[in-house]
Amino acid sequence: PFYDAFIPEHRYMNYLKGLWVTLQISFFAILLGIVIGVTIAVIKVTVADKKKFIWLKVICDVYITIIRGTPLMLQLLIIYNLIFTARDTNEILVGAVCFGINSGAYVAEIIRGGIESVDSGQMEAGRSLGFHYMQTMRYIIMPQAIKNVLPAIGNELIVLIKETAVAGVIAVSDLTMAAQNIGAVNYDILTPLYIAAAFYLVLVLGLTRLLHIFERRLAQGDR
Ligand code: ARG
Repeated sequence: PFYDAFIPEHRYMNYLKGLWVTLQISFFAILLGIVIGVTIAVIKVTVADKKKFIWLKVICDVYITIIRGTPLMLQLLIIYNLIFTARDTNEILVGAVCFGINSGAYVAEIIRGGIESVDSGQMEAGRSLGFHYMQTMRYIIMPQAIKNVLPAIGNELIVLIKETAVAGVIAVSDLTMAAQNIGAVNYDILTPLYIAAAFYLVLVLGLTRLLHIFERRLAQGDR
């Protein structure tokens, strides 16, 4: 439905709509980021181990270097104008793809660190049990690596929720955009910005708490 920021009763709906967009984009972006990140991390580690298909690792390194070495806002503008040309493209899709491509580079390095933190004896053990390299990766290394990096992935989600505040530059009406729109029609810029900031703060603090509880649960399994 369409909520008119000019109508006072509709104003809070604009915040909720913006909040919902922010949450959806962050969620789907981290999913895409994890898919990209795991793929790239496995490719990098495998190529380093096998010393074959070096060019694959080169491609991954170029992607990671460029994404982490240039401003997110520029990447959004470039990806948006490169991929999405249709006027009616779904804004959740646009946001998730743009932010997901960015997040993938950061997640890749998180996962690679996780894989390398698993003792090399685990690979040797898997191989001596008759597993192939990829089977050992899939059934022995990755489960341990994923468990090690879950807290860091949670952090990445929190980072994403805050970073999506710039989604307005690619025409996505997220929480920050909603606040700016409300401010524009109200002739009161600051109040909506404070309200949006409060929304983010509650979200981030809530997620941080959840992460802590989750981390403690994970640590119990180690004992
Ligand atoms: N604000 C930084 C930039 O513009 C961070 C980018 C996003 N970071 C992330 N972990 N996804 O480059």
